[in-house]
Amino acid sequence: MAGIPVQWWLLFLFSSYLATTLVTSSTMKTYIIYMDKWAKPEEFSDHKQWYSSMIKSVTSRSTEKQEDAAGDGDRIIYNYQTAFHGVAAQLSEEEVEKLQEQTGVMALFPETVYQLHTTRSPMFLGLEREDSTSVFSDNLFNSDVVVGVLDTGIWPESPSFNDTGMTRIPAHWKGTCEVGRGFEKHHCNRKIVGARVFYRGYEAASGKINEQVEYKSPRDQDGHGTHTAATVAGAPVHGANLLGYAYGTARGMAPGARIAAYKVCWTGGCFSSDILSAVDRAVADGVNVLSISLGGGVSSYYRDSLSIGAFAAMEMGVFVSCSAGNGGPDPISLTNVSPWVTTVGASTMDRDFPATIKLGTGKFVTGASLYKGHRNISSNRLYPLVYHGSNSSNLTPSSMCLEGTLDRHSVAGKIVICDRGISPRVQKGQVVKDAGGVGMILTNTAANGEELVADCHLLPAVAVGETTGKFIKHYAAANRNPTATLAFLGTKLRIRPSPVVAAFSSRGPNILSLEILKPDMVAPGVNILAAWTGELGPSSLPSDHRRTKFNILSGTSMSCPHVSGVAALIKSRHPDWSPAAIKSALMTTSYVHDNTQNPLKDASTATFSTPYDHGAGHINPLKALDPGLIYDIAAQDYFEFLCAQGLTSSELMVFSKFSNRTCRHTLGNAGDLNYPAISAVFPDNANITVLTLHRTVTNVGPPVSSYHVVVSPFKGASVKVEPARLDFTGKRKKMTYKITFTTRYRQTAPVFGSVTWKDGVHRVRSPVVITWLPPL
Ligand SMILES: *[C@@H]1O[C@H](CO)[C@@H](O)[C@H](O)[C@H]1NC(C)=O
Ligand SMILES: *[C@@H]1O[C@H](CO)[C@@H](O)[C@H](O)[C@H]1NC(C)=O
Ligand SMILES: *[C@@H]1O[C@H](CO)[C@@H](O)[C@H](O)[C@H]1NC(C)=O
Ligand SMILES: *[C@@H]1O[C@H](CO)[C@@H](O)[C@H](O)[C@H]1NC(C)=O
Ligand SMILES: *[C@@H]1O[C@H](CO)[C@@H](O)[C@H](O)[C@H]1NC(C)=O
Repeated sequence: MAGIPVQWWLLFLFSSYLATTLVTSSTMKTYIIYMDKWAKPEEFSDHKQWYSSMIKSVTSRSTEKQEDAAGDGDRIIYNYQTAFHGVAAQLSEEEVEKLQEQTGVMALFPETVYQLHTTRSPMFLGLEREDSTSVFSDNLFNSDVVVGVLDTGIWPESPSFNDTGMTRIPAHWKGTCEVGRGFEKHHCNRKIVGARVFYRGYEAASGKINEQVEYKSPRDQDGHGTHTAATVAGAPVHGANLLGYAYGTARGMAPGARIAAYKVCWTGGCFSSDILSAVDRAVADGVNVLSISLGGGVSSYYRDSLSIGAFAAMEMGVFVSCSAGNGGPDPISLTNVSPWVTTVGASTMDRDFPATIKLGTGKFVTGASLYKGHRNISSNRLYPLVYHGSNSSNLTPSSMCLEGTLDRHSVAGKIVICDRGISPRVQKGQVVKDAGGVGMILTNTAANGEELVADCHLLPAVAVGETTGKFIKHYAAANRNPTATLAFLGTKLRIRPSPVVAAFSSRGPNILSLEILKPDMVAPGVNILAAWTGELGPSSLPSDHRRTKFNILSGTSMSCPHVSGVAALIKSRHPDWSPAAIKSALMTTSYVHDNTQNPLKDASTATFSTPYDHGAGHINPLKALDPGLIYDIAAQDYFEFLCAQGLTSSELMVFSKFSNRTCRHTLGNAGDLNYPAISAVFPDNANITVLTLHRTVTNVGPPVSSYHVVVSPFKGASVKVEPARLDFTGKRKKMTYKITFTTRYRQTAPVFGSVTWKDGVHRVRSPVVITWLPPL
C-alpha cells in the first residue's frame, strides 16, 4: 500500500478538535434552547410548565417519524434553571423552525460533542513538582472550598480520596451523591462530597447506555476523571508510583479541598447538553471552582456551551479552569478562549524516565520509557532492527505500525521502529507485540520535535525525539544487518531545563479576539502521576490486564486541574476574591524562566517560547497566594467586552437572560477589558500610530504601599505607562493607569514584552503583545 496522502492523516488528527454536529439515524436531533426567563406568560405557574407547553405546541403527533409512543413532554431531556434558562429537547428540523418563531426563544443550538484533552495513551515521563510541595502547610488541610470536576466520574476506592482527618462537609454545600451500578451513598465521604451523572444528551444521540459494559453511575471506568480529580484535591498518598516509576508522595494541589464529580463523558464522548446541565447543577450545588479538562466546542463565545456555561458560573462567583487543548504546536490551535475562563496550557516538569538504545555500532542514544515487565530483552544481546518506512520523512501506515500493517514474517524476534501518528502510541506497541516483535522504538516526527513521550507499553519500548529517530532510521537503512538493544534506567530528577512548554500544548493567538491574549498560563501537564481507575490497565488497552493505583498521563487535561487546585487554595485563603481576582493572582505571579535561569523554551522548536505558547508564564502557587495587586473584572465588564466585540443583541441575549444585562458601552476598545495580560492591536490603517489602553489595579497587599513600573523594551514601538508610580493608602484601594503604544516601525510579526509593577516585595507582571494588522 502506498503512503497515505499527508492531507488525509492531518485531517484525521485534527478533526477531533472540531466540533461535530450530530445527526442521529432519525430526523430528530437534540437542541439546546435558550429562553428569556422574563418572557414567561402569566398563565404558567413555573418555567418548566411553560417550556413543556411550548415544546408541545411545535411537536406534531402526525410526524411520520414519530417512533416513541411517549408523550411530547418527553422530548425535553433537560430543564436548565440555575446558571441559565431553557431546555435541551429532541426536535426535527421543521419543529426547530416553528420553535424559532415562539416568543421567549432567544437562541437555539444543535448538540455538539466535546473531547477529553488527553488521549489516555499520551503518557509521558515525570511527576509532581518538588517545589509545589511547600505550598501545603497543615492549616490548608481543611478547606470549605468545593471543586466540581466535569469528567468521566471517579474511582472512590483510590487512596487519594481517603477522608481521614477531614472536617465536616461545608455547610454551604447542597450537592448530593447519586447512586447507580457500582456506586453507593457510602462512596461519598468528606473528600468526595458530591457525585452526579449526566447522560440524557448522550443517550438521545447514541442510544441507551449498555449497563453491562458501562457504569451508568459516577464510577469512573476510564481513569481520566479519577486522575484529574486527584490532581486537584487528592489526599497525600505516600509511596505512590506506577510500576516503580515516579515513586514518591502523590497529592493534589489543594489536599484540603473537597471534590464533587460530575460525570459528563461516556464511551462515545461528552455532549454539550449534558455539560451544560452539569454546570447548571454544579453552580446550584455550591461549587467554588470548576475544573473542566474538555474542549472542542464551536469557536464562538455565544455558540459554545462551555463558554456560555462558564459565563453563568463566573457571574455566580465560580472560578472556571479549562484545558487549552492538545492541538499544538500549530498556531491558533486553542480552545476555551473566553476571557472569563482560565485557559491552561501544558509544560514539563524536572522529572524524566530515561532509557537507552544501543545500536550495533556500539553507539548509545537516549530516549524515555515507562516499560516494566519481564525483560525479554536482554541488554547483553543485540536484536535485529527493522523499519517499514523510507528514510525520507514520508509517513506510511506500516512506518506508523498501524493495525494490520506488520507481518509476522518480517517482525518476529526483532526490534521495530514505529513513527508516531494516527494510532495511539500504546496501540503501536500492541501491534508490534502481536506480530511477534521483541521491542519497539517509537520515533517522534516533526509534529512532536524532541518532546519525549514515555508510555506504559505492553512490550519493551523506548520513545525518542525526531533527531534521534532520524539517526536510528539512517543507521537501519544504511546497514545490511542493523541491530539494537534497549535498557531502562528508571526515574531521574532535576532535569534541566524545566519547565519547557509541551509541544502538544495548544497555541495562540486567540482566534476570536486578538485583544485577549491566550493561553492564560501553563502548568505541569507532562507525565503527571495521579490516581487511576481499577477497571483498566495503565495503557488503557483492553488487552492490558495490569492494575495500578496510579497512572502517568500527559495532556492539557492534566495541567488544567493543577490550576483548579491552586485556585482552590487561593479561594480558601481569600474567600471574597472574584474569579477574575484569582486568575489575576495566578497570572501576574507566573514566571517565565526555567531552572537554568534562561527564558522558557518551547519543546517543539527548542527555542524560546512566547506568550502565544505560555501566556503569562508558569504558575507559581505560593506567590499567587499573595500577589500584591490584582486586576479585577466584574461580570458586567465581561458583558461590555462582548458588546465591544460587536455581538448582535440576539447573540448577547445568551449572556444576559440571567441578570438582564444591557450594553452600556463603557468599553471603547476590547483591549481595555481589565485583563491581567495586555494586547495592543493596531488597526489595518497605517495612519494610526498611537494607541492607548487602560488598566485598574486593586491593592490586596499592605494598605500603604508604593509601586513603580518597569517596562521591557519593544521592537518597533515605544511603550509608556502613566503614572509610572502608584501610591496606595489603603487595602482594596483601586488605581488606574494608562499605557500608550506609539508605533516607530510597523512590524509584520507580533512583538512581545512585559509591564511589571514592583513594590520591593511583589512583582506584578503582565505579558504584553503588540500586533499590527496588515494595512489594506
Ligand atoms: C485512610 O487513611 C488512614 C490514615 O492514613 C488509614 O488508617 C485508613 O486505612 C485509610 N483508609 C482507606 C480506606 O484506605
Ligand atoms: C517473554 O517470553 C515468553 C516466552 O517466549 C513469553 O511467554 C512472554 O509472554 C514474554 N513476555 C513478554 C513481556 O513479552
Ligand atoms: C536514504 O537511504 C539511501 C540508501 O539507503 C541513502 O543513499 C540516502 O543518503 C538516504 N537519505 C537520507 C536523507 O538519509
Ligand atoms: C428584566 O427585563 C424584563 C423585561 O425587559 C423586566 O420585566 C424585568 O423586570 C427585568 N428584570 C430585572 C431584574 O432587571
Ligand atoms: C492616511 O493619511 C493620508 C494623508 O493624510 C490620507 O491621504 C489617507 O487617505 C489616509 N489613509 C487612511 C486609510 O486613512
